[in-house]
Amino acid sequence: MKARLKASKGTHDLFPPESERFAAVESTARSVFGSYGYGEIRTPTFEATELFARSVGDTTDIVHKEMYTFTDRKGRSLTLRPENTAGVVRALVEKGLQDFPRPIRLWYAGPQFRYEQPQAGRYREFRQIGVEQLGIASPAGDAEVLEMLFRFLRALGFTDLVAAINCIPRGPAREKFSRALREHAATRAGELGTEDRRRLEENPLRLFDSKDPKAVEILEGAPATLDFLDEASRAHHERLQELLRSAGVDFVEDASIVRGLDYYTLTVFEVASRRLGAQNAILGGGRYDDLVAELGGPPTPAVGFAIGEDRLVAAMEADVRPESGLFWVVPDSPDEYVYALGVAEAIRSLVPGDVVETDLTGRGLVKGLARASQILEAPAAYGFRVRGVHAVLLGSREREKDEVTIKDLAARTQDTFPRRQLAERLGTGRRA
Ligand code: HAM
Repeated sequence: MKARLKASKGTHDLFPPESERFAAVESTARSVFGSYGYGEIRTPTFEATELFARSVGDTTDIVHKEMYTFTDRKGRSLTLRPENTAGVVRALVEKGLQDFPRPIRLWYAGPQFRYEQPQAGRYREFRQIGVEQLGIASPAGDAEVLEMLFRFLRALGFTDLVAAINCIPRGPAREKFSRALREHAATRAGELGTEDRRRLEENPLRLFDSKDPKAVEILEGAPATLDFLDEASRAHHERLQELLRSAGVDFVEDASIVRGLDYYTLTVFEVASRRLGAQNAILGGGRYDDLVAELGGPPTPAVGFAIGEDRLVAAMEADVRPESGLFWVVPDSPDEYVYALGVAEAIRSLVPGDVVETDLTGRGLVKGLARASQILEAPAAYGFRVRGVHAVLLGSREREKDEVTIKDLAARTQDTFPRRQLAERLGTGRRA
């Protein structure tokens, strides 16, 4: 026997019904974000490697050791996107960001790639749903994004999630914070591993990304971001909290959040779920007021977030797939196939939105009906979220007399009638 091929490490396939859950989450994103004026952007899955080095930052774990980088046939260094903010900003700058009507409101959904050690909730190919808002410097921009995020989470049935927020100093204040952090950790640098000593050396803020208990211990009692904010940053942070309170967004301040990407300035936030294991961050985001200019565009304030869709779906209790009726059409034998396909088409036109699936296995009425009962008894395993199951039984008698037999599986009622009465029968009591 030939060796079977397997999905690559850290990737996973999505089958119905799970894929339908992902699709429902994405359509909820489209409708909620759309209601705030956010339109969808789709950017390429690979970009020039330099883009990520310049935005995410070359001292971050992502750029340092998690990128899928390859050289194409012409010797260009390309990277599968590890995140989507850099690509969105690159796309806007390339198109001429200065000519866009302000504010710019965009969302996206798609695969991202990071070479991480796979475990529950951590993949090498994972999906993100993200939002980017550009052109608004006021904390009202941050507040809108968070308010919209919570509206989206509520629409998916999450009611107890809390945002952890922090404010990272920018410009000279950030330099001062970095220096203080370096000084704080310097005396104990010998206790750190090579990787963390590199972080301390190159970019002390990155020490917060370390999972080494020693580094975590050293950071306890370290200088806090909030003590280094300049006047304007502090005002931004305080105003944001007022706005969040009045919008009813649940949040706590958490000085340990610095986020593993270099482009953040001021506001950063994360939301974690207790229903997930060690990889419990459902989403992260923040303000990145310097990134557009760093990528060659006109100075433009911006804020956004990205949700790990795989983790979001794993943490979700509600079934958000749209509900529909199911008509399971069973031809008794191949002699009834043509008749069955015609009946199925007629039903489809009469009940738009419902699933009309034809059992073309040739297994006969009894076994076909058994399959319909199985779907009724274990609806979670069927691809779609069905609210009722009707079996449409078509034997030689029905075909010859141009009739249909419809069995309502839950009500255990069965009815045979002329095909031409379908509209009338389906339009009335049958669908209730
Ligand atoms: P991030 O925190 O790197 O931020 O990723 C956002 C979310 O993606 C995480 O909270 C997590 O749920 C999910 N995620 C990250 N890595 C993995 C993985 N290996 N497997 C499964 N899920 C994962 C960003 O990517 C920023 N671009 C967010 C942003 C947008 N900031 C401003 N705008």
